[in-house]
Amino acid sequence: MSLKRGREGRFVVFEGIDGSGTTTQCRMLSQRLRNAGRAFWTTSEPTGGPIGRVLRDILSGRLAAAPETVAYLFAADRSDHLLGAGGVIERLEAGELVVCDRYKHSSLAYQSVENDPLLVADLNRRFVDPDIVFFIDLPASVGDQRISGRPSREIYEKIAFQEQVRTRYLELLRDEARIHVEILDGTTPQAAIAEKVWLALHEASIL
Ligand code: TYD
Repeated sequence: MSLKRGREGRFVVFEGIDGSGTTTQCRMLSQRLRNAGRAFWTTSEPTGGPIGRVLRDILSGRLAAAPETVAYLFAADRSDHLLGAGGVIERLEAGELVVCDRYKHSSLAYQSVENDPLLVADLNRRFVDPDIVFFIDLPASVGDQRISGRPSREIYEKIAFQEQVRTRYLELLRDEARIHVEILDGTTPQAAIAEKVWLALHEASIL
């Protein structure tokens, strides 16, 4: 799934284990872009679309599905996110700045814990690469403390699972040759992380 030649848009993605603060960082970056008068579009996965809603039911435990089926569903939701009307591809081709809370590295990390990593890689191979991935790195124990105040837990929100997800993320992202990756210390204050994100986006000529 490639973009038409002449693509001018930029695709910025935040990744991390549960409780790492990807949503907070997306919000802080959005605020800063707004203050700077920059046009952008912010989005997230799983999406709010039909496949994303099924995924939310699976994540909450309301619906049951085999791990392999879940990997296919995340890939289908991603395809819809990219190719749907007003979706990521359309916006990148129109030259927009797209900021996304989780993308294909979430599948490569989370779904590979319970599936053959090669299957997950195959399902995600054709999806367009982001221009930059910010990985907010956090020990699973810290993430677990942060989500302990939430009213209910999702199926992946177990400390041993999250530790495996973190290991997988680090393996993938440390070796990532094609994509610009910034690994940020998620234990530092959110404002300090946001500042690093802002600087990195300028240094990478994304802003
Ligand atoms: P998220 O919305 O970030 O969590 P929250 O509901 O706490 O705000 O993500 C929901 C969960 O989905 C999270 O545990 C990560 C998981 N996930 C995958 O397992 N694979 C994927 O491809 C994506 C996008 C998310």
